[in-house]
Amino acid sequence: MSRSLLAIRTLPVADIESLLELGADLKARVLEGRGTPDMSRKVMGLLFFENSTRTRVSFEQAAGYLGMRSSNFASSASSMSKGETLKDTVLTLRHERLDGLVMRHSSSGAAVLAARHFGGPVLNAGDGQHEHPTQALADALTIRERLGRIEGLKIAIVGDVAHSRVARSNAWLLSKLGAEVRLVGPPTLLPNQAAMLPGAIHYDFSTGVEGADVVMALRLQRERMEGGVLGSVREYASGYQINETNLRSAARHCVVMHPGPINRGVELDDESADGPRSAIADQVTNGVFVRMGAYVWCFEG
Ligand code: CP
Repeated sequence: MSRSLLAIRTLPVADIESLLELGADLKARVLEGRGTPDMSRKVMGLLFFENSTRTRVSFEQAAGYLGMRSSNFASSASSMSKGETLKDTVLTLRHERLDGLVMRHSSSGAAVLAARHFGGPVLNAGDGQHEHPTQALADALTIRERLGRIEGLKIAIVGDVAHSRVARSNAWLLSKLGAEVRLVGPPTLLPNQAAMLPGAIHYDFSTGVEGADVVMALRLQRERMEGGVLGSVREYASGYQINETNLRSAARHCVVMHPGPINRGVELDDESADGPRSAIADQVTNGVFVRMGAYVWCFEG
């Protein structure tokens, strides 16, 4: 039986744990040169209707480690540029006998729509402002590797929470696994219906990161912002940029994270992005392994 990975909010804790275990096990297998599952009979369609570096390449890399073939697909080079709908595109790929789809799209809910019509596993690689489940899995694996656990940790998610699918998936995943989640940022960049997302709201950076075990910066999603939401980038950076000075109120062992792509000098300074606290490179590497785990989970249960 196959299944889709569309969102963390609706995923039971047992499935989140299975996905993290699969990711950790496959990482060990690859790094130690041990065998990985043979999925060479599967062909994936990689549909990226929005730009991506980390997610697209890591899904390709993950497919390669499992022996899968993948077919890359961009809307500008497809019949969608001639007016074909997403539904008809997905149906076409289904009839061309692709086994599964990885999809990134600018519309929230696009992955659910694709799953409804495809008839096989669909892996959400980010849909609008909704969710980015495999990024949250990569982040959770990274936190566990660095700090040994997630339960009981104080995790501050800082910045443009309102427009961030990464923040949404992380807030759900980390709170489901027992972390204390804090959403930190200016009022215009935090969700106006806080009850819709787990986490305590903090407009003040210092109190938001006080004692935090993990401080996770978010990219300013300027492509999704309406006018007036952000005063100026300089003003944002003066209040919410993560740097060594304003991390003094966090725990001494505090881990700094960012899902990327980073706007250096805005969300993070160079020292916090590249210094010993930073787990950003590990987040990228773990993205490959949790996506391998996601393929196995979707096809093999
Ligand atoms: N974190 C993330 O989704 O990065 P990309 O946009 O480069 O895939």
